Amino acid sequence: MRSLFLFLGAFAHAALSLPSNNNNNSTSSTIQVHWVGDTPSYTGGSSFGLPWPQGKYYFNDTVFSISGDGNPDIPLQSWVTGFWRDGSIKWTGHAIPPLESVSVDGGFGVRVRSSHTKSSRSQGAGQGVRVQNGRDEVTVNTGKVTVTFPKKGGNIVGSIKTANGNVVGENGKLVLHTQSGVAEDVASRSDTAIEYLNFESRISKVTVSAEEAGVRAVVTVRGTHAPVDSDHDAWLQFVVRFYLYANSDAIRIVHSIVFDGDAESDFISGLGIRFSVPLKDEELYNRHVRIPGVDGGFLHEAVQGITGLRRDPGEDVRSAQYEGTELPDESTWDTRVTSRLQWIPAWNDYKLSQLSPDGFTIHKRTKPGQGWITIPGGTRSGGLTYLGGATKGGLAVGLRDFWKRYPSGVDISNAASDEGQITIWLYSPEAAPLDLRPFHDGLGQDTYEEQLDALEITYEDYEPGFNTPYGIARTSEIYLYAFDQTPSSDHLASLSNHTNNPPVLAAEPSYIHSTKAFGTYWDLPDTSNSKSTTIESNLDFLVKFYEGQVESRRWYGFLDYGDFMHTYDEDRHIWRYDVGGYAWDNSELSPDLFLWQYFLRTGRADVYRLAEALTRHTGEVDVYHIGDWKGLGTRHGVQHYADSAKQVRITQPHYRKYFYYLSGGDERVGDLLTEALDTDQTYGVLDPNRKVRTDGWTPTPGQPTAISLGTDWAGLAAGWLLEWERRGPRWQEARHKLSQTATGIANLTNGFVTGSGLYAITNGSLLPPPADPNNEGLVAVSHLNAVFGMPEVISELLDYWGSDAPAGLKDVWLDYCYYYSASSEEQQARYGESFGSLNLIQGHSRLTAYYASQKGNSSVAERAWDEFYNNNDGFTADDSWAAEVVEGSSVLIPVEEASWISTNAVAQYGLAAIQDLALAGGVLEEVPFP
Ligand SMILES: *[C@@H]1O[C@H](CO)[C@@H](O)[C@H](O)[C@H]1NC(C)=O
Ligand SMILES: *[C@@H]1O[C@H](CO)[C@@H](O)[C@H](O)[C@H]1NC(C)=O
Ligand SMILES: *[C@@H]1O[C@H](CO)[C@@H](O)[C@H](O)[C@H]1NC(C)=O
Ligand SMILES: *[C@@H]1O[C@H](CO)[C@@H](O)[C@H](O)[C@H]1NC(C)=O
Ligand SMILES: *[C@@H]1O[C@H](CO)[C@@H](O)[C@H](O)[C@H]1NC(C)=O
Ligand SMILES: *[C@@H]1O[C@H](CO)[C@@H](O)[C@H](O)[C@H]1NC(C)=O
Repeated sequence: MRSLFLFLGAFAHAALSLPSNNNNNSTSSTIQVHWVGDTPSYTGGSSFGLPWPQGKYYFNDTVFSISGDGNPDIPLQSWVTGFWRDGSIKWTGHAIPPLESVSVDGGFGVRVRSSHTKSSRSQGAGQGVRVQNGRDEVTVNTGKVTVTFPKKGGNIVGSIKTANGNVVGENGKLVLHTQSGVAEDVASRSDTAIEYLNFESRISKVTVSAEEAGVRAVVTVRGTHAPVDSDHDAWLQFVVRFYLYANSDAIRIVHSIVFDGDAESDFISGLGIRFSVPLKDEELYNRHVRIPGVDGGFLHEAVQGITGLRRDPGEDVRSAQYEGTELPDESTWDTRVTSRLQWIPAWNDYKLSQLSPDGFTIHKRTKPGQGWITIPGGTRSGGLTYLGGATKGGLAVGLRDFWKRYPSGVDISNAASDEGQITIWLYSPEAAPLDLRPFHDGLGQDTYEEQLDALEITYEDYEPGFNTPYGIARTSEIYLYAFDQTPSSDHLASLSNHTNNPPVLAAEPSYIHSTKAFGTYWDLPDTSNSKSTTIESNLDFLVKFYEGQVESRRWYGFLDYGDFMHTYDEDRHIWRYDVGGYAWDNSELSPDLFLWQYFLRTGRADVYRLAEALTRHTGEVDVYHIGDWKGLGTRHGVQHYADSAKQVRITQPHYRKYFYYLSGGDERVGDLLTEALDTDQTYGVLDPNRKVRTDGWTPTPGQPTAISLGTDWAGLAAGWLLEWERRGPRWQEARHKLSQTATGIANLTNGFVTGSGLYAITNGSLLPPPADPNNEGLVAVSHLNAVFGMPEVISELLDYWGSDAPAGLKDVWLDYCYYYSASSEEQQARYGESFGSLNLIQGHSRLTAYYASQKGNSSVAERAWDEFYNNNDGFTADDSWAAEVVEGSSVLIPVEEASWISTNAVAQYGLAAIQDLALAGGVLEEVPFP
């Protein structure tokens, strides 16, 4: 323990005194928290979440503190993100400021103790962030930077000032460029009347969340993009959150937009954030530009370069400019240079364009009207760009996952004037515009009959008017760093890594598991016998295979990054990116759940990143955030919003739950959870079964509607449970709907086996389905019901409710779990008919395992393993569990191929493996399989 945590700054405070006390009311314990992956070389302040066992701590009676080796005194801000039913804390969020030097051991201990004396929630942050919430603006002073946020107008950031008083950034605004159409080919550019429009942010609301002297402040700015020079409506609503940590010079920005335009006439041709950087009184040769290259590399440029000239100003002068320090006084230079400075051009403008994940280009020019000069580019830019001066300081701005979210870019403009600008492009204006029009014209599929017939061949579920991006969203992360002088490139490289891999803190898997806060259906990796070891190695293979596919199949892009493809085309050696329902996966069969549960048990950094990117994608792009379908998502397809199946199973809030709590309550995901509370209203306007309905029923807003007890109810129930846990503003309504519907299901003669029920949107009750109004007992089991989160949701719900669960709920769920894969004879004996032939038996083996574990029944546990190993559509022990390299002329680029893999099978195998090991692992060694 030689290394020390050194906390920068003057957070003077006494070490906490910890009275020893044996009674249960003042329990004290220390939870180990560590960086996920390698210890970062820089931290700008971090937030994280911690779970707690039921009944142990009550927020207002609990004091949290954090220490790392050598430093008992790290300031900590704590808040509650989730409660157990009894009001004890289930999840807390915490924030720590940046650490100057981070221990190689990398560990922290969060100490928690009950205390009868009320105390401030923020420990040790005596001089934390200072926030002024004024009438016209919010001001946040971290100790390193002071940032103002105007409450109206177009500037989402007023100014960014360093502690030394240098204003290094101002007039931060969102910029949007659009065009009303696209020329269909280059020749028709001359005869198309395309209008080009410019927009800038217009603020509608600014709020700030901060505690007095807390560790962090979160400023939330909402608004739309208003036209600059046209009468187009304001559109593209945004919410931009700024995270500022005490003593940090980094500002984290989470930027979300909702597409509320018209795909046929609102083509986004540029979307970015722009800051002005004051450069007045800085000599041109002291102004620096750092253009980000590959792996922390930078292009070192000065606005007026004095290197490489015919006459040498002197080595000190040259090296100062290269390093970015102030040049020696001109009187010390060779006069053959100083007398001719006016002949050296100043480079006013720069642009870097990352139009593909494989390459970026850079250009610069002296001023508008002059030609652009090509600067040699590279492959994958880190994206963090700096503009500033040696004496006045400057600003670095970076987009996380810059090249993965192509087409992205950076512009520097007016660097030779008194005020330069730096623009980070989330969508590069150098690229072809974002084209969200449907990819086909409907192919004459005018009737449900034709649409269902087309589904038989392309697997796309098409319907005119449903292929709309209206209401989808995208969230991006941007980091800003303020400097009093041009930083060293090594420091910028470290910040570039921070921007692209923001450090994450998490508790140990064993601790998370012990609290049961993420349920009791998973456990730590099991290598206790050769069969479980094989399963663990298969899981590892699958995750690494997908990591490799993201790269070799280039699953990147502004909207696409994070998602996977659904099914492989072994003839073409390519995923079926262009075949209807086989293309983008849109969370089909829950890969989200598999990856997060796999992270919980392993704590692996690579898994965290894969899962995080997936959650950020599926929760935004695959889901509608406004409009009649708010709260529904879109089934898998060629475009994320193309398919006409708009369902809650894709929105499933449980898919966001792990990231939400682990991140300390990510505010954007919190918005998504809140949106989900309106999902049930959609059943009054959109009937998920409209194409196959034979009774002529149509929905009416507010009127009772038939919902499926699997994909529909599980998605609604997850949203209600989350609101109840969070004690959000609608938690009582949510709990009411949850208990009403669950009571209704328990009351159905055949419980979950009934398949559907009549849901009353206005009062939350669930009655027998229209097909069985007298509740005589219907049998309608679908292989899809339990593969969109239902087992996880119900298991957590039953744990949450405990003895308070609606009578009979657990029994009807255990029945469903037992009978889904039971023999026809058993189904017949119990329900009077068999369920017919069902598939996805491998995935459903975890329902059997759940039954076995709840009942302590080892022969049913053995049955679970039989289903896991022997079924007709899952992975088998005979699969190769390996990928092959395909290269040469048969493929575009060399790829790894495993044509026996589909994302459906991966997700359900993964979940079954994890949960069968946790719930039925005890009998694995004895079973006569595989
Ligand atoms: C603390 O609680 C546990 C059960 O939760 C109980 O067994 C134990 O006796 C209690 N200890 C004291 C000092 O009350
Ligand atoms: C512990 O808390 C309970 C409930 O709040 C209270 O009734 C009891 O007196 C407390 N015991 C001690 C030793 O403080
Ligand atoms: C970037 O940071 C991550 C972890 O924070 C580390 O694993 C990785 O090695 C770093 N990369 C470079 C190029 O420093
Ligand atoms: C803590 O106490 C404050 C003041 O009584 C109250 O407003 C707040 O809701 C309490 N928080 C929790 C989580 O119980
Ligand atoms: C349960 O079902 C019975 C009829 O099967 C009905 O009379 C009763 O009202 C139902 N209760 C609830 C809470 O739905
Ligand atoms: C809820 O609404 C439904 C449909 O309008 C109605 O049949 C039912 O009686 C209502 N239940 C309660 C408890 O009000």
